[in-house]
Amino acid sequence: MKVTVVGAGNVGATCADVLAHREIANEIVLLDIKEGVAEGKALDIWQTAPINLYDSRTVGSTNDYSKTADSDVVVITSGLPRKPGMSRDDLIATNAGIVKTVTENVVKYSPNAIIIVVSNPLDVMTYCAYLNAKIDSKRVFGMAGVLDTARYRAFLATELNVSPKDIQAVLMGGHGDTMVPLPRYTTVAGIPVTELISEEKLNEIIERTKFGGGEIVKLLGTSAWYAPGAAAAQMVEAIVRDQKRIFPVCAWLDGEYGMKEIFLGVPVVLGKNGIEKIIELDLNDAEKALLEESAVAVKSVMAVLDTMNATNA
Ligand code: LAC
Repeated sequence: MKVTVVGAGNVGATCADVLAHREIANEIVLLDIKEGVAEGKALDIWQTAPINLYDSRTVGSTNDYSKTADSDVVVITSGLPRKPGMSRDDLIATNAGIVKTVTENVVKYSPNAIIIVVSNPLDVMTYCAYLNAKIDSKRVFGMAGVLDTARYRAFLATELNVSPKDIQAVLMGGHGDTMVPLPRYTTVAGIPVTELISEEKLNEIIERTKFGGGEIVKLLGTSAWYAPGAAAAQMVEAIVRDQKRIFPVCAWLDGEYGMKEIFLGVPVVLGKNGIEKIIELDLNDAEKALLEESAVAVKSVMAVLDTMNATNA
């Protein structure tokens, strides 16, 4: 299996490192536009192989997409990260141009690849990649829910002082402040979370989750990378190992949840064909209202991209 990670910044390099370390692919290409950065990081990762005892090979490339040819999965992390005070949406103009060029190159050399978008603003950059890839929406989708759910689960594990392994949750909606954690679908080793935590505490955790990315931007002056990189790698693993894992993924909706022509976080089955099924939960009225609010926010940023494309056409 061959996996390409475009963008050798913190998220891309972390993703490549996890893919190599866990032998998720035997060939990993890290590509970046900045001269030498991808080669340097790929070489550094490869030099951990004798220490960590694996044989996946990581190679780097400065913008030479021929090296990515015939990749099975491509992860796109390119684009600028957030600075303090910026919302993910502030990045749209710059990152849309980058994601467009990257996607065109990716598809040129790997027409059959499954594409996972990680660039921000996530939902709209996934839409951007979809418009430019011109491939089935089951093969182009975004990583957000795995990360947002991981944050939610980590906060719950800390609060309850239990293993994060035992916390299962679904989180839907856009990768922004309107994301929708779903307490009704959150369990701790099968026990509904509401039996273990007060409503007040749970609401605090939900609020902290919604702003989980911003919390890290504030601390570091730039976006997170360990959890985003690992989350993308986990999605790659589900695809290359055909695991049929159920993850919240930013997917193109065509009538599901009563919505059309929008990329939004929903639970899906991920396997060798990409999105093999979108799972439709029977949401109650309050949950539906939150999801719709999130969809309105995502649609408004998608409209910004549509207007930009119409102006440039
Ligand atoms: C975050 C960025 C990667 O949520 O969107 O940390």
